This record gives sequence, C-alpha cells and structure tokens, in this order.
Amino acid sequence: VAVAALIVRHRMRKTSKWGRAKAILKEFEEKCATPDAKLKQVADAMTVEMHAGLASEGGSKLKMLISYVDNLPTGDEEEVFYALDLGGTNFRVLRVQLGGKSGGIIHQEFAEASIPPNLMVGSSEALFDYIAAELAKFVAAEEEKFHQPPGRQRELGFTFSFPIMQTSINSGTLIRWTKGFSIDDTVGKDVVAELEKAMHRQGVDMRVSALVNDTVGTLAGGRFSNKDVSIAVILGTGTNAAYVERAQAIPKWNGPLPKSGEMVINMEWGNFRSSHLPLTAYDHAMDTDSLNPGEQIFEKICSGMYLGEILRRVLLRMAEEAGIFGDEVPPKLKNSFILRTPEMSAVHHDTSSDLRVVGDKLKDILEISNTCLKTRRLVVELCNIVATRGARLAAAGVLGIVKKMGRDTPEESGQETIVVAMDGGLYEHYTEYRKCLENSLVGLLGEEMSTSIVFKHANDGSGIGAALLAASNSLYVEDRS
Ligand code: GLC
Repeated sequence: VAVAALIVRHRMRKTSKWGRAKAILKEFEEKCATPDAKLKQVADAMTVEMHAGLASEGGSKLKMLISYVDNLPTGDEEEVFYALDLGGTNFRVLRVQLGGKSGGIIHQEFAEASIPPNLMVGSSEALFDYIAAELAKFVAAEEEKFHQPPGRQRELGFTFSFPIMQTSINSGTLIRWTKGFSIDDTVGKDVVAELEKAMHRQGVDMRVSALVNDTVGTLAGGRFSNKDVSIAVILGTGTNAAYVERAQAIPKWNGPLPKSGEMVINMEWGNFRSSHLPLTAYDHAMDTDSLNPGEQIFEKICSGMYLGEILRRVLLRMAEEAGIFGDEVPPKLKNSFILRTPEMSAVHHDTSSDLRVVGDKLKDILEISNTCLKTRRLVVELCNIVATRGARLAAAGVLGIVKKMGRDTPEESGQETIVVAMDGGLYEHYTEYRKCLENSLVGLLGEEMSTSIVFKHANDGSGIGAALLAASNSLYVEDRS
C-alpha cells in the first residue's frame, strides 16, 4: 500500500510538473502572439514614427539619422580603399580593390578579430587604440604586397554601427552605445577624431573619408551590385534599417538639396517602441537588468544578442516553478547571456528523432544531463516562439518602411521591384528565423505584391559599402555625381 501511494504521489507530482510547465508555455506563447492584424498595427506605428523622426530632431524614439550619403555607388568606383567595420562582438579590417566601370570588385582581403569584452565597457582610448593597432598590423602585412602610389594617402571607410549624429560624411558624434557596449567617455565625441588620434598613436597614416552605419554600408554595397536595392536591414547582434528617402520629405534637413534629390536615412529602428509590441514579463525584466534600460526595445525582442537570453529566462522560470530539470534548479541556468543565439539556433534546427543536439547543448552549456524527449521538445517549442515573434516583427518593420516609401500597393509600386539588402549573423545563420521573416512579409503584402519585394543577402555589404563610400568621397577622385 505504501509503495502504491508513493507511485501515485510521484505520478501526480510529474503530472502537475508538466501541467505547470505547459501553463507557463501557453501563457508565454499567448503574450508573444503576432497575428497579421497586430503586425499591420506595428507596421503602421513604424510609418508614423518615421514621419515624426524626419520632421524634427527628437521628434520620435526613431532617430531617423541623416547619413550625408546622397549618392549611392554607381559601379564606376576604382582604386584601392580600406574599411574598418566595428559593430558588435567582432570587427573587421578590409582592403578592397575596385575595378571601375564594369570591373566590379577586383580583389578584397580582410582580417577579423573579436573585441575583448573588457574593452566594451572600458575607456574610449583603450578601445580605439586596440582597433587602430589591429589596423596597423593589417596595413603592415598588406604593405609587403601592395604599394600605395607616392604622394597619395590611404583612405578608409569607417563603419561604426552605433547611433551617430553625423555632422558631415566623415564626422559625427556618438549619441549612445548599444549592444552591450558602454563607455561613457566616448558619448558626445566625434568618433572619427577618436579613431584618427588612435591611428596617430599607432603610427598609421590614413584619412577617414566616410563614416557610415552598417545599414548604410550594406545599402551602398547592395546597390553596387543591384540597382534596385533601396532598403538595407541588419539582423545580427543588434538590428537596424536604412533606406533611401526623398530629400524633400525630410523637414528637419536644412542643408542644401542634394543633386540626386535623395538622402539615405539610418533609422536606428532598434529603438522603436510601440504599445502594439507584444512584450512579456521576461522582456521587461531583461530590459531592466540591461546596460540600457528603456532603450532599444525593438532590438531586444528581434535581434541576436537577446533571443537566447529571453529563452534562458523562460527556462529558468520553468525550472524554478515546474522543476522541468529536476528538483534542483541547474546553477548555470542562472547566468545571464549564457545561452547565445547561435546555440539556440542549433537547438531549434535539430531534426534528429531523439533531439540529440538539444540534449547535447543542454548538457554542454547548462550542465543538465539526461533530459527526456518531452523536455527537449519543450525547449524547441520555446525557441520557435521566441524566434517567430522576432522574425515576424522584423517583417512588420520592413512593411513599415515600404509603406513610408509608398510602395505597398500594386498601383503605387509600379513595375519596379524593391530589393532589400540583408545582412547580419542572425539572418545569415538562423534559417528558421530567415524563412519566417520572408514568409511573413509575403503574407502581409498579399499575393499581388508578393514578388515586388525581394530579400537579398549582401554578404559583408557593410565593409565593402564603407570602402565604396570612401571612394565616392575620396580626396583624389573627382566628383562623378
Ligand atoms: C544597433 C546599433 C545600430 C546598428 C545595429 C545593427 O542597433 O545602434 O547603429 O546598425 O545595431 O548592427
């Protein structure tokens, strides 16, 4: 009798454990829901904020930053240019040889390094010295193979993927850091001047000809190979978009009207916020604990830096309240940012019948062994909820831009296709996310419009784009516009 009672109790505990876990899952799923009607509201809110951000400085949480890029590459650019791409956990140095008319990119070389985490929260001088030192190494190695023509200074496009108030094509001050960087003494400073000082300290003789956001670089790089590119979206550590706006539709621009009549706008859409966004208690808690509470809310639900962390928070609650990993809460699960999005992607894409990859990842990262199939399935389901919400919201963001451009209906779109240049690790490597984003946009646009917006992966567009913009703003190349 005693044994039977024990078994019954054990079964009851198991059932209530699963019941509790399912309830948490269901609640989370409902809060994350993104039916088409909601996405359309998000898209409309994005369009409204775009107007407000263009109307006046500070008019919206969407900064709608003027990039000073009023001419996108034509394909005629030639000579050799460098680029420095600092945006997330990695940074790259590139040398690009441009072939002029129809020559395209003749040759490119690059070096990549990761930013030591302590430099992301240290001093401005230390960060820029580190970058300039890597640049010096790269140039020294290149010098053996490639000789700069005498009397001509090397020129560099600087991709700096944080919100910058540009003062010209090659100067601008940092508004604030995002994506886990937090270095107070850089805020408000001209980042080109900071880089030039560091280059000087490291003995690198180079002129910074263009300062660009990664979205603007991607737009330029994308346009170089496809003339229909007029929007660029980054989905990586952070997320953001840039697009080509009519200069006359930018009331806050009081400079001369560009010859092209156009201006590239860096939206900084990561900072978009709206009451229509499906936010959960996990998102609010993650935001409160972040380095930039209240900021970058759209980024915190869509981008690579945060998806794994949201998943961790839900799993932790399930471990605490439903004991899904046993009686003890696995200690590692309490470490913020321990679950990174690439790992979450691997879990989400596990197609083995016993979800082996899920089991292995739980064991390797969180030291949780012997998980049953049911638990593994639950984890995959959570990945799907988190990724789907992010991808669908990103699609709504794109729809917002297309609407702002007046290209969301068949009559308005004309015959032309809009090509959206896409880049970033999340887009590139998280297949389910990418598929969901692309399908969601087709769903939102409707059958008739579904082929008029095309996504194109612009691999390393931001670095190449920066080199191209350095070319169009070179001291040594005459104005072709
Ligand atoms: C963050 C930055 C933004 C950048 C984006 C993608 O949102 O603020 O400037 O474009 O990440 O890297």
